This record gives sequence, C-alpha cells and structure tokens, in this order.
Amino acid sequence: MQGRWKDSIHLIRPAAVFLAGLLLFLVVRAYIVPPTFGQYGHYRGAVLDEVRARPVKYAGQETCAGCHVEETEVKGKGKHATVACEACHGPAARHADDPGSMRPMKPEGTALCAGCHEMDTAKPKWFRQVNTKEHMPGMKCTECHAAHSPALH
Ligand code: HEC
Ligand code: HEC
Ligand code: HEC
Ligand code: HEC
Repeated sequence: MQGRWKDSIHLIRPAAVFLAGLLLFLVVRAYIVPPTFGQYGHYRGAVLDEVRARPVKYAGQETCAGCHVEETEVKGKGKHATVACEACHGPAARHADDPGSMRPMKPEGTALCAGCHEMDTAKPKWFRQVNTKEHMPGMKCTECHAAHSPALH
C-alpha cells in the first residue's frame, strides 16, 4: 500500500506541473485578451466604434455629380461610366463638403491610365489593355484619349 503511494509521486509531479502551466496560461490570457473580444463574435467588439469614428474620406460619385454636372454627363455616356470619380481623383470628401478647402488631385494621366490598362496576362481578356512601351510611346495618354470618355480613335 505504502509502496504504491510512493510510486504515484511520478504522476502527481507532472500533474502539478501541468496545472501550474494551465494556471499561468489562464492568468496570461486574462491579461492580454482585450476586454471586448468576443462581444459580438471572434474579434474585438470595440473595433467597430473605432472604425466608425474615423473621418469619411470618399464622398461618392452622386455627391460629385451635384456640382460637376458636365463631367458626370460626359463620363456617364462613355466607356469610363463604371469608373468612379474618386478612383482617379482620389478621396475627395473634404473637397465635396467645402470645395475651397481642398482640391482633389488632377492626375496627369499616363501613370494613372497604365495602373489600370497596362498589359498583364492576369487581367481578364475582355478588359482593354495596352503595352505602354509599344503603344504610342513618349506621348501622354490624354493627348489622344479623353480621360472622362476615352475612345479608340
Ligand atoms: C459643392 C460643389 C462641389 C462638389 C460636391 C464637388 N466639387 Fe469638385 N470643384 C468644385 C469647385 C467650385 C471647383 C473649382 C475649385 C477651384 O478652382 O478652386 C472644383 C474643382 C474640382 C477639380 C479640379 C481641381 C483642379 O485642380 O483644377 C476636380 C478634379 C474636382 N473638383 C473633383 C471633384 C470630385 C471627384 C468630387 C466628388 C468627390 C467633387 N469634385 C465634388 C465644386 C464641387
Ligand atoms: C479615368 C480617370 C478619371 C475619372 C473616372 C474621372 N476623372 Fe476627372 N480627370 C481625369 C484626368 C486625367 C483629368 C485631367 C485631364 C487633362 O489634363 O486632360 C481630369 C480632370 C478633371 C477636372 C478638371 C477639368 C479641367 O478642365 O481642369 C474635373 C473638374 C474633373 N476631372 C472631375 C471629375 C468628376 C466629377 C468625375 C466623376 C463624374 C471624374 N472627374 C472622373 C481623370 C478622371
Ligand atoms: C480605375 C481603372 C481605370 C483607369 C484609372 C482608367 N481606365 Fe480606361 N477603362 C477602365 C474600364 C473599367 C473600362 C471599360 C472596360 C473596357 O472597355 O475595357 C475602360 C476603358 C477604356 C478604353 C476603351 C474605350 C473603348 O472604346 O472601348 C480606353 C481607350 C481607356 N479606357 C483609356 C484610358 C485612359 C487614357 C486612362 C487615363 C486617363 C484610363 N483609361 C484610366 C478602367 C480604367
Ligand atoms: C497618338 C495617340 C494615342 C496615344 C498617345 C495613346 N493612345 Fe491608346 N489608342 C490610340 C488608338 C488610335 C487606339 C485604337 C487602335 C489601337 O488599338 O491601336 C488606341 C487604343 C487604346 C486602348 C484599347 C486597346 C485595345 O486592344 O482595344 C487602350 C486601353 C489604350 N489605347 C490606352 C492608352 C493608354 C493607357 C495610353 C497612354 C499610355 C494611350 N492609350 C496613349 C491612340 C493613342
């Protein structure tokens, strides 16, 4: 009887080490897991308020259309109808709120155009692409294509 009890010490010792490890894990976990983790799901609940508190940067095309009637009309009839104003001019919510306070960038064109139209086999075949090193090199794209309504002539 006594012998058996003496032998079981080699079970009790690792069990004690395991429990100490578990305790340490629980303490560390309680310390590092953010308070709102799991509030709604497997993420930090407070992040929703943090994202909501960020200033809005994009106004959306409908807002631009309110003042820039001509550009909106021209673009709406052309091949760039589906490309939003701010995709080319950058985030412009501050400008839309108060046009004098900030000017949206007015891109020169070529680098911007290449960003979407540079030949790349990873792009879908239907999307119009050019190799800018061979397609009219040394010229600005906007010398031939109108940015708001590009055409193939
Ligand atoms: C409340 C009216 C108003 C709204 C809304 C508005 N704009 Fe403007 N925008 C103006 C005015 C006025 C100017 C001319 C400013 C100047 O010349 O100082 C201007 C100028 C511009 C310019 C020319 C900048 C330059 O350097 O010549 C661009 C590009 C532009 N707006 C894009 C946009 C886009 C994109 C939006 C939507 C996100 C937008 N605007 C929304 C009134 C507006
Ligand atoms: C495909 C890219 C692209 C899109 C989409 C686009 N623009 Fe432009 N926009 C340009 C470029 C490039 C210029 C400069 C044109 C140039 O220098 O010939 C420009 C110029 C302008 C100017 C200045 C015009 C002038 O005569 O100085 C205004 C205002 C403007 N855009 C407003 C808008 C609005 C509003 C929309 C959405 C309805 C829009 N743009 C959509 C690329 C774009
Ligand atoms: C944000 C992406 C984007 C940018 C930037 C952009 N385009 Fe486009 N472009 C498109 C889409 C989308 C279409 C329509 C799909 C298509 O025809 O391939 C298009 C169509 C075209 C076409 C085909 C017109 C036709 O008749 O079929 C030409 C030419 C063109 N763009 C030139 C330009 C030029 C020049 C610039 C720079 C001023 C430019 N694009 C900037 C997305 C873009
Ligand atoms: C000298 C005038 C000229 C210049 C500059 C120019 N293009 Fe073109 N582009 C054309 C003509 C003409 C066509 C139609 C014939 C063709 O496919 O070559 C065309 C066709 C295109 C097409 C459609 C290609 C297709 O396979 O359907 C795209 C996209 C395009 N250009 C983008 C651009 C971009 C981006 C730039 C600037 C890097 C640019 N172009 C500069 C005249 C020009």
